Amino acid sequence: MYEPWSEPLSNYPRTSGKVREIFVLPDDTLLFVATDRISAYDWILPTPIPDKGRVLSGLSDHWFDHLGIAHHRITSRIDDIADRIPALQRDADARASLEGRAMLVRKLHIVPFECVVRGYLSGSGWREYKAGGNVCGVDLPQRLVESDRLPEPIFTPATKAASGHDENVPFERMAADLGQDLAGRLRKASLAIYEKAAAMALKQGLILADTKFEWGLDVSGDIVLADEVLTPDSSRYWDAAAYRPGGPQPSYDKQFVRDWLDASGWDHASHPPSLPAEIVQRTRQKYVDAYRLITGREFPWGDAKHTHPA
Ligand SMILES: Nc1ncnc2c1ncn2[C@@H]1O[C@H](COP(=O)(O)OP(=O)(O)O)[C@@H](O)[C@H]1O
Ligand SMILES: [Mg+2]
Repeated sequence: MYEPWSEPLSNYPRTSGKVREIFVLPDDTLLFVATDRISAYDWILPTPIPDKGRVLSGLSDHWFDHLGIAHHRITSRIDDIADRIPALQRDADARASLEGRAMLVRKLHIVPFECVVRGYLSGSGWREYKAGGNVCGVDLPQRLVESDRLPEPIFTPATKAASGHDENVPFERMAADLGQDLAGRLRKASLAIYEKAAAMALKQGLILADTKFEWGLDVSGDIVLADEVLTPDSSRYWDAAAYRPGGPQPSYDKQFVRDWLDASGWDHASHPPSLPAEIVQRTRQKYVDAYRLITGREFPWGDAKHTHPA
């Protein structure tokens, strides 16, 4: 897909994640560009969701602003970013297309574990519990039902698989790889942020059921919060007023997409089908709703047609 920012950034080394394009700038900082790509069942779908990247970046910004913890963001102000990238200063279209979706970050050595915290029993946590009564080796009370609140939040790390599914592992496995001290610091910090964010979300009427953090190490060995933070792509947010344990809860992101894919008869093995316009619009609205609910502010790119001329 053509993006106005591709050309002015084309001189910088680039790597592509599932959702982000990452450029290495000459001063060794990274420019993160959150695209509108959406993935489901480990596939990137052929149809983007307009402004999804802006929702994810705006929410990461919100949490970096409020968590009070060392994080990787340097700036997400487009003027500050353009100050460091001469080709952007000459290209107003590229600047406009990057605004809200670009974030300049410190390049860190990323810890090769996903630091997952769960306050509720859902997704792979629920599947593991059903099969064996525990999640990542953490024993849980008997007779919990799907989406139940846990007695206390638990830390359930996963390995970062280069491709395909991440694998849940016991904390001891992480400690054996990273050392007890570092693993312990990551667990403590992840649980603390979850608790703080969950309390803030609940004031907004949302349950933060679970979330995944990625951490980096800076040159002095201190841990720094990296990647996207507490977005609908990395977290499950549920409507607190509609919460009913005993089954899956509607989530604030890809529910329409997953439901539509499930009904489409797609086999999850061949390339996924394009999404119909109505599913795209409703999914976009879900992301925009999540932004408004979590931050308590209107999404600054409210009208999709306005920012996306054909
Ligand atoms: N500060 C950082 N320094 C280096 N790499 C980072 C930093 N923050 C996040 N990353 C990595 O950048 C990538 C983000 O792009 P994304 O599209 O989300 O990738 P993925 O498909 O792995 O989720 C991830 O691989 C993540 O581990
Ligand atoms: Mg990611």
